[in-house]
Amino acid sequence: MPSTEAPIGAQHFVPGDAHELDQLKAAAAHCEGCELYRDATQTVFGRGAAEARVVFVGEQPGDVEDQKGLPFVGPAGRLLRDAVDAAGLDASNVYITNAVKHFRFELRGKRRIHQSPGPAHITACRPWLVSEFALLKPDMIIMLGATAAKALLGPSFRVTKSRGQLMPWPASAQHPDDFPVSETQALATIHPSAVLRADDRDAAFQGLVDDLKIAAAALA
Ligand code: URA
Ligand code: SF4
Repeated sequence: MPSTEAPIGAQHFVPGDAHELDQLKAAAAHCEGCELYRDATQTVFGRGAAEARVVFVGEQPGDVEDQKGLPFVGPAGRLLRDAVDAAGLDASNVYITNAVKHFRFELRGKRRIHQSPGPAHITACRPWLVSEFALLKPDMIIMLGATAAKALLGPSFRVTKSRGQLMPWPASAQHPDDFPVSETQALATIHPSAVLRADDRDAAFQGLVDDLKIAAAALA
């Protein structure tokens, strides 16, 4: 199939009557909304308590997540967990998910090299994210990195410029109509993988923690 063909989108697979996250997760396991399901091992859905007040949105599962079927269980996940603790956020109060729910990669020999999802994958997968939000009705949505921020706030959003700023939701969202929660706030920050890659890792980590502290203060 030519890669220029537009994906059909996840909306064909999202159950309209879901009232539990597990129902969404079970349905997402069979999603063929874009071509990424073909080469990846499995769908990696969000995880966390249904009562979670804070939702983290990452980019897409990595190699480890693809194999384990759980989001943020690799190196970036460990760093995120440390940052959540350092910011004083309650880890049991957090739900973690991704903008795109299948791992996109390029094979080089036997190695699977991470490839960022494209705008078509982000758009195709967005109905899952919206369905998670609709059930969770979180108080705070924290977007980790440019992919998540652009998926939810539009392509002109710049994390480097607007990180750590509290925003009302859904006023700032790209598609406010499909997200009926009104008391939610949002904040974008850098992706934990960017901290891992930074020249000055300590400073980058502290920057992430400082942004998360703004969310923690707003929730207190
Ligand atoms: N990076 C992400 O954005 N999501 C994961 O689940 C793991 C790494
Ligand atoms: Fe469906 Fe998203 Fe996977 Fe594409 S990436 S197949 S839209 S779950």
